[in-house]
Amino acid sequence: MNKVEKHTHKQHQVHPSGLPVWQTGVRGLLTVVGAGPGDPDLITLKAIKALESADVVLYDALINESLLEYATNAEKIFVGKRKGCYAYQQEQINELIVSRAKSHDHVVRLKGGDPFIFGRGAEEIDYAQQFGIETRVVPGISSSLAVPAYQGIPLTKRGASESFWVITGTTKSHKLSQDVYLAAKSNATVVILMGMSKLNEIVSIFAAENKRDIPVAIIQNGTTEKERFGFGTIQTIEQVVSDKKLSSPAIIVIGEVVNQRVKLTSICREVREEIVS
Ligand SMILES: C[S@@+](CC[C@H](N)C(=O)[O-])C[C@H]1O[C@@H](n2cnc3c(N)ncnc32)[C@H](O)[C@@H]1O
Repeated sequence: MNKVEKHTHKQHQVHPSGLPVWQTGVRGLLTVVGAGPGDPDLITLKAIKALESADVVLYDALINESLLEYATNAEKIFVGKRKGCYAYQQEQINELIVSRAKSHDHVVRLKGGDPFIFGRGAEEIDYAQQFGIETRVVPGISSSLAVPAYQGIPLTKRGASESFWVITGTTKSHKLSQDVYLAAKSNATVVILMGMSKLNEIVSIFAAENKRDIPVAIIQNGTTEKERFGFGTIQTIEQVVSDKKLSSPAIIVIGEVVNQRVKLTSICREVREEIVS
């Protein structure tokens, strides 16, 4: 078999709404889909349509599993990390995508938040394309934006923050990103994902910039029923984390906007209560 397999596709029809319609008989379509941050209502219509037409869904740990109900007829394979253990290594996931795309019409790779924000979605697409597999992406609502928003924290606000950084706490080499040093020098809001195990290092970097009083929020399992959070400053946040026993998956938000949250939180809660009642 050739390394790059010959692959034929029917012309994709376009729905009157402008959305692509995935046709049966088209082998090897991979759609990398963002599932949103946890609240199952924070998924897009396009993502639901992809799930409904999926033959196979490979999903991660941080997705809300109730979303799998949209994929009525699909084989569902968990490929994420639970209790610190990976079900599959990245190379195995890549191979699984390719092998399923060869034998099925539509493979959906369902990822937490947005697949292109620290989601390795681009790597999986690159790999699949080497085998002539047609690929699509459905963006998702990233936890980096939605989790602070559910706590009423605006990442930008006139007079408080003109920009924001979204940084990983854990790079490929398992180190804190060097960008944290640059971000700590700026006036921007700083959002750190995968940073809980590096909190001590992060706090020291901000303290070295004389920013001990800058407000900090830590939100664990944001937008879900298991959401837990703590607020403090660069000086106090480690104690808050210890007192409240906060851990991963969590987002760290550093910046003056954390102190602007109260009014927004109450508005947010009112809206949520109205929806529930
Ligand atoms: C591998 S990254 C994936 C991010 C994802 N692609 C996104 O756009 O949200 C996983 C990290 O995102 C953050 N995260 C994702 N979902 C979260 C949630 N519901 N609450 C808090 N943090 C979350 C945590 O820092 C977690 O360790």
